[in-house]
Amino acid sequence: MYYSEEIIEEIRSQNDLVDVVSEYVRLQRKGSSYFGLCPFHNEDTASFSVSPDKQMYYCFGCQAGGNVFTFIMQMENFSFVEAIKHLADRAHITLPQPEYSEEVRRKMEEKQVLLDIHKEAAKYFYANLRSPRGQQANEYLNKRKLNKNTQKLFGIGYSNMDFADLYQYLLYKGYDEALILKSGLVIPKKKGKGFVDRFRNRIMFPIFDVHNQIIGFGGRVLDDSLPKYMNSPDTPLFDKSKNLYGLNYARASGKNQILIVEGYMDVISLYQAGFENVVASLGTAFTQQHAFLLKRYTGEVIIVYDSDLAGTNAALRAIPILSSAGLKIKVVQVPGEKDPDDFIKQNGPEAFQTLLDQAMGAVMFQVSVLRKKYNIEDTEQKIKFTIEVAQLLSRLDNEIERDVYLQEIANDTKISAQSILNEMNKYKAIQRKNTNKINIYSKKIEAQPQNHLKINKESSNIDEKNGLYKAQKNILRFLYNNASFYPKIKPHLSYEDFIDPILKKVAQLIYEQYDKGLNIEPATVINHFENLNEQKQVSLIFGEEKNKSQDYDIEKAINDQLKLIKRANIDKKSRNASDIYEIQSLIEQKKQLEKLYINLISG
Ligand code: CTP
Ligand code: MN
Repeated sequence: MYYSEEIIEEIRSQNDLVDVVSEYVRLQRKGSSYFGLCPFHNEDTASFSVSPDKQMYYCFGCQAGGNVFTFIMQMENFSFVEAIKHLADRAHITLPQPEYSEEVRRKMEEKQVLLDIHKEAAKYFYANLRSPRGQQANEYLNKRKLNKNTQKLFGIGYSNMDFADLYQYLLYKGYDEALILKSGLVIPKKKGKGFVDRFRNRIMFPIFDVHNQIIGFGGRVLDDSLPKYMNSPDTPLFDKSKNLYGLNYARASGKNQILIVEGYMDVISLYQAGFENVVASLGTAFTQQHAFLLKRYTGEVIIVYDSDLAGTNAALRAIPILSSAGLKIKVVQVPGEKDPDDFIKQNGPEAFQTLLDQAMGAVMFQVSVLRKKYNIEDTEQKIKFTIEVAQLLSRLDNEIERDVYLQEIANDTKISAQSILNEMNKYKAIQRKNTNKINIYSKKIEAQPQNHLKINKESSNIDEKNGLYKAQKNILRFLYNNASFYPKIKPHLSYEDFIDPILKKVAQLIYEQYDKGLNIEPATVINHFENLNEQKQVSLIFGEEKNKSQDYDIEKAINDQLKLIKRANIDKKSRNASDIYEIQSLIEQKKQLEKLYINLISG
């Protein structure tokens, strides 16, 4: 992060949340809070609340919540740094200029010049297209039905036939030869000294980053010659594996999902047809960095690839990558050997919307691919199919989702759900064996009389994980609402015992505040998280208490939850333990833990 905690807190405290929210939402006071219609989902009863004391907002309808930074990030689709700048501006606070080393400053200056060169080049291509030299290119774009407005929005241009047109122009504009070379827009001559333009006689597509700066170009030929497309090479500005074409528009589209297509023309053509939430990975394989980039702006993606073999394989490869970034994934296969651009031109936007509405879940898509691979009329192939499907489904954490798929597949293939389930259980057992190092000791430990001394083998079970997460969250919530119990809890539970990385950080912040004898300011704690989803997650700790239980119930619950966390810690250590002595010591710790009971009410 560029800015100090102090300046971030200063900006937050100078932007009263009620004032800021009031710029977007009509608020009415009710008791100690303000209420209004939630700007993040459609509703006609006011379930969006703002607490002036906590400087937090929370929607009882859609669970959106956070502090003033979260609000602006959500409202304006800003990054954390953008929100800081916006709110600093609003409160007339001058942000400090960060101090950089000589080396860093030189790099930043170089980047700025490269950006200028790209902007200059884009203007040049753009003007070319609109000059007599661009006539053929214009005809081509007309043929492809891109209207003038769309061309303008995407900054489409044309590079001339001549050998070093752009190069000469950039020199004339005063740019340094070495930097022009670094921009990737020119290449050294094959024979002799000097440079020629990389892009000649091509339709030029500027590639924008999320801040609408041009960082590279793609160029398409006007006919069937090869290579069809040429792209900027990797430069200090441009890294194909990190950028997605169209994301600058998609992120501002206000839609809940982002469509992923293969090419430039697909993005532009869909955008023109009203689908503004679309990006392309520029013909390269989808990377983990692409996935995380998308995750910053959306929770759900729809892969819209061609239905040919290449498109199917690309989708199959992209699914695990997108899924590991935590994105929900659907897949659409454009029918009839077409790409989305062809499809929408032939069938119109409504037909395309219908395709989207019928998008398959990622697992169902994977199953459908398997279905085509095997002939299930043949017994042997049917067995293979069942095994592969079972492996796929066994990776699903959500049991309800899994059962729905199971039923669907059983109906479709006439393979009984039970036999797929049996196969799945086999596979699960193998998975467990492979991952659980502790297994070699498990016999010994299970021989122990007390049941609770068993090293927990099922800790990958999702429900338990949820329980564990809830336990950590509840303890933090309890500590926040009951500062006086902190001294009783702390000796038994350090912040390092928290397992979830985000909650661990929150715990650390709470512990540090209490150790200093200070109160917890929820909005300040949220400041420490840059990512919108993290902020929302953290804000849920500080939200309203749902139901007040009896003191005794709370005491018991806190004890149970604390033990759950400690136990999970010991289990984790056990799994990584390398010798039997360490395991014995952990077993001892576990024994002690079961005896622990913290008395919160009486003495
Ligand atoms: N691509 C590339 N280099 C190539 C071919 C393709 O970089 N030689 C990338 C481009 O980003 C292209 C995408 O892969 O947009 C998809 O390729 P393709 O489907 O062949 O092109 P389209 O986008 O359909 O382009 P058009 O409709 O103009 O043929
Ligand atoms: Mn195409």
